[in-house]
Amino acid sequence: MTSVLRLENIHKSFADEGGRRHQVLAGVDLHVMQGEIVWLRGESGSGKSTILNISGLLSTPDAGRVWINGHDRTKASPRAAATVRSKEIGMVFQSSNLLPELTALENIVLASSRQLSREAVMQRLERFGLAAVADRKAKRLSGGQQQRVAFCRALINQPSVLLADEPSSGLDASNTEAILEAMRSGAESGCGVLVASHDEVFKHIAHRQLPMSEVLVEQV
Ligand SMILES: Nc1ncnc2c1ncn2[C@@H]1O[C@H](COP(=O)(O)OP(=O)(O)OP(=O)(O)O)[C@@H](O)[C@H]1O
Ligand SMILES: [Mg+2]
Repeated sequence: MTSVLRLENIHKSFADEGGRRHQVLAGVDLHVMQGEIVWLRGESGSGKSTILNISGLLSTPDAGRVWINGHDRTKASPRAAATVRSKEIGMVFQSSNLLPELTALENIVLASSRQLSREAVMQRLERFGLAAVADRKAKRLSGGQQQRVAFCRALINQPSVLLADEPSSGLDASNTEAILEAMRSGAESGCGVLVASHDEVFKHIAHRQLPMSEVLVEQV
């Protein structure tokens, strides 16, 4: 089994408005294996989103290394990072970040790195219970429908790594079940999933739990 994501001794600090730096991550080590669902849990402000943003190459660590599929991507340029993201990483955020004026179907077609027929996209939307709203603009979808479209979009390029930041927040039980199922089936086809959340519901699908207190070698 290979690790699809590995963080090695990651340090990250942020400057406050007065210019003082605050250390958020001080020596984070974690890995996610192929087909594994890892649940990152910890209190608000403990650095979960910071870890996901660094893993998704949206933010650069001050020190340490980020490995995606065995390649060191720590120093990837923004352009190279975007290529890695489009081919190897799917991301879902707390708010779905869909393009509001595009339909559900168009949001997915736009994210796809291959030419997909309408039928192929419709098949995927159907799996998420979204066929009936495929041609509805994202801004006219409910929060739960938007989040399901976001999962469908994140998985469209069959990424090796899926990063999900508080994906269940504000969702009812049936929408939550739909996103749990999306993660489960992504993992069954080999995707490694890292989900950051307070929501205890992830205990049902996680192969492993990672409390922030355990990933932080040293708290500053
Ligand atoms: N861009 C930034 N600039 C300055 N400080 C930041 C920035 N991003 C995060 N922080 C700070 O880093 C700390 C960790 O934030 P982070 O968003 O990673 O926490 P979290 O565990 O995801 O919290 P929550 O559960 O509330 O989402 C917080 O103290 C936050 O204020
Ligand atoms: Mg967060």
